[in-house]
Amino acid sequence: LKRLPQEQTDILIVGSGIAGLFTALKVACRYRVVVITKEDPSECSTDLAQGGIAAALDEGDSAELHAQDTLTAGAGLSDPQAVRVLATEGPRRVQELIEWGIPFDREGGRLALGKEGAHSHRRILHAGGDATGAVIWQGLAARAAMEKNIYLLPRTMALDLLVADGRCYGALVLDRSGRIKAILAKATVLASGGAGRLYPVTTNPAVATGDGVAMAFRAGAEVMDLEFYQFHPTVLVHPGASGFLITEAIRGEGGILRNKAGERFMPRYHPLAELAPRDVVARAIAQEMARTGTNCVFLDVTHLDPEMLEKRFPTVVSTCRKLGLEVHHYWIPVAPAAHYWMGGVRTDLYGRTNLERLYAGGEVACTGVHGANRLASNSLLEALVFGGRIAADLLERNWKTGSYPPLSHGLLGEGAPYEERELFFIQGIMERWVGLVRQGQGLKEAAAQLDSLWSLFKKEVRSRREAEVRNLLLLSRLVVEAAAWRRESRGAHYRVDFPEPNPLYRKHLILARGKEARE
Ligand code: SIN
Repeated sequence: LKRLPQEQTDILIVGSGIAGLFTALKVACRYRVVVITKEDPSECSTDLAQGGIAAALDEGDSAELHAQDTLTAGAGLSDPQAVRVLATEGPRRVQELIEWGIPFDREGGRLALGKEGAHSHRRILHAGGDATGAVIWQGLAARAAMEKNIYLLPRTMALDLLVADGRCYGALVLDRSGRIKAILAKATVLASGGAGRLYPVTTNPAVATGDGVAMAFRAGAEVMDLEFYQFHPTVLVHPGASGFLITEAIRGEGGILRNKAGERFMPRYHPLAELAPRDVVARAIAQEMARTGTNCVFLDVTHLDPEMLEKRFPTVVSTCRKLGLEVHHYWIPVAPAAHYWMGGVRTDLYGRTNLERLYAGGEVACTGVHGANRLASNSLLEALVFGGRIAADLLERNWKTGSYPPLSHGLLGEGAPYEERELFFIQGIMERWVGLVRQGQGLKEAAAQLDSLWSLFKKEVRSRREAEVRNLLLLSRLVVEAAAWRRESRGAHYRVDFPEPNPLYRKHLILARGKEARE
């Protein structure tokens, strides 16, 4: 290890989505920042986000109402303090993006505000119609490219964190030429997104293999709420576009869900019908699919103004058109798919983890905002608000000085093992037993099968793919452990053997390597 090539920087940021770039931009005035990203920098969930970013900016709306909606969606598990931070600091952060030139859509000169499920007000800012994430990402990336203190390293994957005596000093990475090297940093920020690839169908990009959560866990960081995985209700069912999201904002504008018989079924499941919380809509769809023996239901927008659809949802309309599906005339086949992980690396209100000098922001983190179920369009906002707080904390400390520890084997997390076909086994196990609907026996089976996969694995990671699968295997096992522990149904976690919420489980499960699980 001592002979490994090494590089030094002030701040290492893992991930180039909104959390990573926003944090980098905010600290570049003081620090040299290296941002590493596994693929091209635009290959991130931010770039795919359609619906928008929620902020209470409308007259008649308020941070209190936004917070209340967030808490209600979180099904009793959101941290009220974190939610208050999100809702009250959100508008200021969005204003900052506007000042940075991000062109949010406007109507008659005023910001256009959309509506999404379980929001009591119109408060979803959008850009490029339904290309919100891409427009924001391009704005941030252009700004980062002009910043001389930010060094963006594409096709560089973090393999493990370098940790000694409870303090993080950077990461061991696989660089673009396939070499392993150490990037030593005074502080490290995980902003590496989620783990949609735990499941065979996901709205997430291919890079979403949960590397940040897995690395952090191996290094001794606490992870929390892993059992809560959100399935987006309406993902296009078409062999040519696996995982393509049909934004919830379409339902906000009047889109209707119909089953195979053409019946509008959501009013049977919830008074808010198509705009019920996401977990409710996703489970209702799954139930209708099972009941009618189909692999999808349909989103009907044929009654909506075609001009509005073209203008407001250009990405959805044109993608469907390319596949031969004219949404003005035909119903869109949709089904739920893995979308967002509420759980992640446990942080405080400044993105700090239990390991000194290790921060986490964006989907990789569990700030406590989302609880058991994330409210639509709160994820970009969370990345901004908590990215801003991480930056504030980093700027408050003077980490330009101080030395790096000498590299030694002791710094590395546990090495591990694997082979390619295991990825398909893992996704199959997760889909079958740890998806939208779970039950005790299935979770036991999943645990046994995942354990037997572990025992097949060799001890060394030699490629990016191996490292990704090792991470997914570790995470799938942790999700199963958390899901088996939670003997109730709450938010995105639904168990047929315990179909109701149980007040005794109004608490979190915190896991950390080598330690007893904590509640
Ligand atoms: C969507 O556009 O429906 C997704 C937005 C989100 O996940 O918050």
